[in-house]
Amino acid sequence: MAASSSTMPVMISSVGIAVASASVVHLVPPVSTLRLVTPATFNSYVFLDLETTGFITTEDPICRITELSMWGIEREQFLNCNGSKMPRITNRLNMCVDPSKEIHPMAATKSKLDNLNLSHQSPFDEDVANTVLSFLNRLKKPMCMIAHYGFKFDFPVLKSEIANVGKDFSEDVFCADSLPVFRTCQSLAQGVPYSYTLENVYRRIYNNQPEVMHEAEADVKMLFWAAAATPRPFLNAVANIAVPIATITKCW
Ligand SMILES: *[C@@H]1O[C@H](CO)[C@@H](O)[C@H](O)[C@H]1NC(C)=O
Ligand SMILES: *[C@@H]1O[C@H](CO)[C@@H](O)[C@H](O)[C@H]1NC(C)=O
Repeated sequence: MAASSSTMPVMISSVGIAVASASVVHLVPPVSTLRLVTPATFNSYVFLDLETTGFITTEDPICRITELSMWGIEREQFLNCNGSKMPRITNRLNMCVDPSKEIHPMAATKSKLDNLNLSHQSPFDEDVANTVLSFLNRLKKPMCMIAHYGFKFDFPVLKSEIANVGKDFSEDVFCADSLPVFRTCQSLAQGVPYSYTLENVYRRIYNNQPEVMHEAEADVKMLFWAAAATPRPFLNAVANIAVPIATITKCW
């Protein structure tokens, strides 16, 4: 899913019309043909994690969300935290939803969420979708969501849920998978098959295990601190692989 990096501005027009008036030349991009190009840097990032009913499999690609957590952080805040201080200015969203589908026993054990204890939550309905989309909309653009294994899992699942209630992300939402990003940032010995699960990435940096795992917000926190250990290389690598969320294919 890695796209080539680009240093072009966020939006370009494929068929910009040059309009000359007096001495000024205006480039008028016809809105319908605007196409998104990954910007060189982003102004904000959303660290994202989902808990779900289970894995996406070929027999059953319908993977539903049970919990969603998003931390929105501005670029400067992230760079200034120096890998040790939680940025003062963050925007965080955590929601539990009734998945409207049986949760796989292994997923229930790991996430400590089962169908019974989610039965009083709303399903992933229009309100949930609007909350997510509004949360993203008020962050400073251009903005990039970051999730571990996100290209293969979190982004397709979230896209499917949003589309299922007839909604879509705005055009200027980008996304990046932190797994290949950490592969770039953690330059490890060649020829050794290192594991890049978030837990192992984190353990290599901090030499211990996070206290809580497999709760959406705890995993976002783990992702955040793993990223914050090398903030600038991390964000540079994110810019190199980020793609518009529009290019991500739904899984159901
Ligand atoms: C973070 O580190 C940079 C460079 O070492 C320094 O200039 C900056 O003041 C530090 N910021 C904080 C919040 O400690
Ligand atoms: C919810 O379900 C999980 C998995 O069955 C269980 O471990 C947990 O204790 C339950 N939590 C509550 C608050 O009932």
